[in-house]
Amino acid sequence: MTAYVAEPVYLNGQFKPLAEAGVSPLDRGFLYGDGVYEVIPVYSRRPFRIDEHLTRLQATLDGIRLANPLTVDAWKSVIFKLIADAPWEDQSVYLQVTRGADDKRDHAFPPASVAPTVFAFASPLVTPSAEQRTRGVSAITVADERWARCDLKVLSLLANVLARQAAVDQGCTEALLIRDGYLKEGAASNIFIVKDGVLLAPPKTRLMLPGITYDVILELAATHGQAVDVRELTEMELRHADEVWMTSSTKEILPITTLDGQPVGNGQPGPVAARMWQWYQDFKNHIMRQG
Ligand code: PDD
Repeated sequence: MTAYVAEPVYLNGQFKPLAEAGVSPLDRGFLYGDGVYEVIPVYSRRPFRIDEHLTRLQATLDGIRLANPLTVDAWKSVIFKLIADAPWEDQSVYLQVTRGADDKRDHAFPPASVAPTVFAFASPLVTPSAEQRTRGVSAITVADERWARCDLKVLSLLANVLARQAAVDQGCTEALLIRDGYLKEGAASNIFIVKDGVLLAPPKTRLMLPGITYDVILELAATHGQAVDVRELTEMELRHADEVWMTSSTKEILPITTLDGQPVGNGQPGPVAARMWQWYQDFKNHIMRQG
C-alpha cells in the first residue's frame, strides 16, 4: 500500500494490488481522455451522498454515450469493499470508467466487443487544515477555456489542469474560471460569494459541474434560513464580494481571502462562511458519521 492508495484496488471485476492493476497503453482513457470519473468522500466509513454521486456518474456516462458497465448495486458493493479494506476512517473513493482499449487508434467509438475499463480505489480524505480555514487561501482568475459540456465529470481535464497549475505557479490554491464576463466555478471546485449577507451562487448550466457539495450548501442554507440567490454572477460582483468560498467533496467549504493579489472583503474569512462550515460539520458528524 502507498500512503495514498489503499490496497486492494479494483480493476475490471477484480480486487488486486496496485502494482498488478495494469491497463493497455491503447486504453482510450490514455489515448483520448475518453472516460468519466467520480470522487466520493467517506466519513467514518460511510460514503457521503453515494446515490447522488452514482446518479451524476450515470448522467456523465449518458452524456458521453457510454453504457454504465455496473449496476448501482454492483457499484455499491465495489465501493463498500474498497472502504472496508482501507485503513482510514475518512476516505475519498475515486471511480473511473473509460471506453476501453481497442487494437487500433481511431477517434470513433470502438466496436461493442471492446469492454470499458473500470478502475476504483480508496485514499485517505485530506480536508483543508485548520490554518487554511481560519486564514483563508488565495486564488487567481483565469479565462475559462474549457469545452461547452462542463456539467459532465469527464477525464479530459487539461484546461482545468492548466488553470490550477497557473494558480500553483503564483503560490495560490485555486483558479476561478471566468467565461464571457461571468464566474462559472473553480478549476476543481464550485464557487460561492457573499454580498450584504446574501449567499450568491452561479446556476447549474452546461458550463458548470453540478457539485454534490454545492447542493448540500444550498440545502443547509435553506434549512438555517440563510438568504440565497442563485443566478449568473459577473466578474465585477466577484471582485466586490464580501466573501468568496470554494467548495468540493475534499475541500468542503474553504474561504478565499485573496483574489488576484487583492483582499476579498476585509481580507479575513467571513461570518457566513464560518456559519456554513459549522452547519456542514454538524450535518456530517450527526447525520453521516452516526448514520
Ligand atoms: N472535483 N467543479 C469542478 C470543476 C470540480 O472538479 C469539482 C470537484 C467540483 C465540486 O464537485 P463536488 O462537490 O461534487 O466534489 C466542481 C473533484 C473533487 C476532483 O476533481 O478531484
